[in-house]
Amino acid sequence: MNNFTFYSPTCFVFGKDTENQAGGLVRRFGGTKALILYGGGSALRSGLLDRVKASLAQEGVPYALLGGVQPNPRSDLVYRGIGLCREQGIDFVLAVGGGSVIDTAKAVAAGAVYDGDFWDFYCGKRVEKALPVGTVLTIAAAGSEGSPDSVITRTEDMLKRGASGDAIRPRFSILNPALTQTLPPFQTAAGITDIMAHLYERYLTNTKEVEVTDRLIEALLLTMIHEGPRVIADPDNYDARANIMWAGMMAHNNSCGVGRSQDWNSHNIEHELSALYDCAHGAGLAVTMPAVFTYVMEHNVMRFAQAAVRVWGCQMDFERPEATARAGIEALRQFLISIGMPKNFAELGAKEEDIPALVQALCYGGGRQGSISGFVTLNEEDCANIYRMMI
Ligand code: NZQ
Ligand code: ZN
Repeated sequence: MNNFTFYSPTCFVFGKDTENQAGGLVRRFGGTKALILYGGGSALRSGLLDRVKASLAQEGVPYALLGGVQPNPRSDLVYRGIGLCREQGIDFVLAVGGGSVIDTAKAVAAGAVYDGDFWDFYCGKRVEKALPVGTVLTIAAAGSEGSPDSVITRTEDMLKRGASGDAIRPRFSILNPALTQTLPPFQTAAGITDIMAHLYERYLTNTKEVEVTDRLIEALLLTMIHEGPRVIADPDNYDARANIMWAGMMAHNNSCGVGRSQDWNSHNIEHELSALYDCAHGAGLAVTMPAVFTYVMEHNVMRFAQAAVRVWGCQMDFERPEATARAGIEALRQFLISIGMPKNFAELGAKEEDIPALVQALCYGGGRQGSISGFVTLNEEDCANIYRMMI
């Protein structure tokens, strides 16, 4: 296992009606004036936004509102948020929504106390300072409620890139599984896929002797395999929603990724798809992961075979471990299809003729030098081959 420092100071408040504690938590973590960010309308329709506003009012915390965050959130709204914070003396950013709202809140929080362009953080500069951020999560998916990461798309050229830094880890995150019961089945399934991707990206490691994190990841993947179909069949199943919501947080706050190298090639390859086609991140991952895994499988067949046996219940073929590895990847693919995810470019709305542009943005956008690295290093030709496997 590699050396590591793990800093995860987020206060998690989990369970029914916990959104009513938002005002008290903003106060507890030093907020005297908040910016409440929200998305395209689900938090308004469900009454959640009103409950959060009432909670802040009850605690005497004044607030400004900024709605309209769209999935695959854009930089133009981040600039508006930064402007609002500076004009109104805001000292706390509260996200009410999913990963897109939370990531916008993190970008605003970092940009509001930075003299330069906030986009610098999305070109490799680490976030060292930010206004405190809190979240009220409405979808189990991106894991941003416990992560030090934010992913934003630059409006001008639709370049989608990530920023990172412990300063943007939320001070608190409110997780009420009941809030996710209003999700359309497609979004629920896209969230499940993203959670599983966060686990696989960590499972694909080149570090030896990482039994504890291997086993944690396997347990979380098994949880998703058990709870995913239950919640798709019965969207009001609170207990299944609760298990998925906490698994989603654990999958991405890095408690199961410490001390080991990680992959993230599937995410990098997918981000170009959701940037170009504005598809759901999880849906893009459903198409991307089986192709990437099949392409890189030979790099460490036994790692894929281990997942096949321990997670998917495949029989180990000792004569041909690659057959076991392939069976595990196929089981993942079939599982994602069974919960309603797309299986190829056509179902995602992607086009073969765009592959050169996708590869160009992937391998050169944002200062990259012709390749992406992770479990294996992939050059332009590899990335083109992988996109072609998705057709
Ligand atoms: O905007 P509203 O009306 O709220 O609708 C949203 C949106 O259309 C809807 N939704 C959310 N909660 C709902 C709901 N609809 C009904 N009831 C509810 N309770 O769901 C749609 C998707 O929301 P979004 O926030 O985009 O989803 P998600 O949490 O999957 O976030 C995706 C974004 O996170 C990034 C992705 O790239 C993508 O941009 N990621 C962020 C990460 C991080 N910060 O650590 C890591 C991830 O790997 C990921 O890259
Ligand atoms: Zn993701």
